[in-house]
Amino acid sequence: MTAPSSDARLFLREFVRSPLTTAAVLPSSPALAAAMTAPIAAMAESVVPVVVELGPGTGAFTGAIRRQLAGRGRHLAIELSDVMADVLTARYPEVDVVRTDANDLCQVLADRDLPAADAVVSGLPWAAYSGPLIRTIAGSLAPNGTFTQFAYTWSRWAPPARRLLAGLRAAFDEVEVSRTVWRNVPPAVVYLARGPKS
Ligand SMILES: C[S@@+](CC[C@H](N)C(=O)[O-])C[C@H]1O[C@@H](n2cnc3c(N)ncnc32)[C@H](O)[C@@H]1O
Repeated sequence: MTAPSSDARLFLREFVRSPLTTAAVLPSSPALAAAMTAPIAAMAESVVPVVVELGPGTGAFTGAIRRQLAGRGRHLAIELSDVMADVLTARYPEVDVVRTDANDLCQVLADRDLPAADAVVSGLPWAAYSGPLIRTIAGSLAPNGTFTQFAYTWSRWAPPARRLLAGLRAAFDEVEVSRTVWRNVPPAVVYLARGPKS
């Protein structure tokens, strides 16, 4: 399924309004969503997972997460843009959409009496990582938890992208970089981080 053209128009409008936080002119593709949410599919059936999306936008990964969860666990989505959050809430009323900054992740979990997240799936742009966010994410994960973040291949060698990868390697025991997902505009790779360091 491709993104509805209304989503593409909304992304473009949000990009013009706030290019650094939107950082894309199109939502991600189903192929990238499958790669980003693969760790949730791999979770044991017995786990009642807590999944947190950061920067969900119009929900490019949300539907894939819903399918992987198949009614289990908790699904939170933290989105800064009210316009994106409105679309997401209308489209996925069963998802707990929180209108705040991803840096508030620990508080969002604490407000819900959730001790940790089992998976954090991030569509955030580089700009969101200028502060301590990677440490915050690592600190919010359960010991077996996973963190996925995508990066457009054309920008992987730019300083902010290299800083993000170095930050992940400092905060996690293991960081895998996927093959290029060509069926996305633009093509992207997925960073999968495991083993948050305490
Ligand atoms: C590149 S878009 C990705 C949207 C969607 N995940 C996708 O892949 O199509 C980035 C999203 O992150 C949101 N965002 C940017 N900075 C944020 C922050 N600090 N906290 C929460 N959301 C943020 C933007 O509003 C936007 O919806």
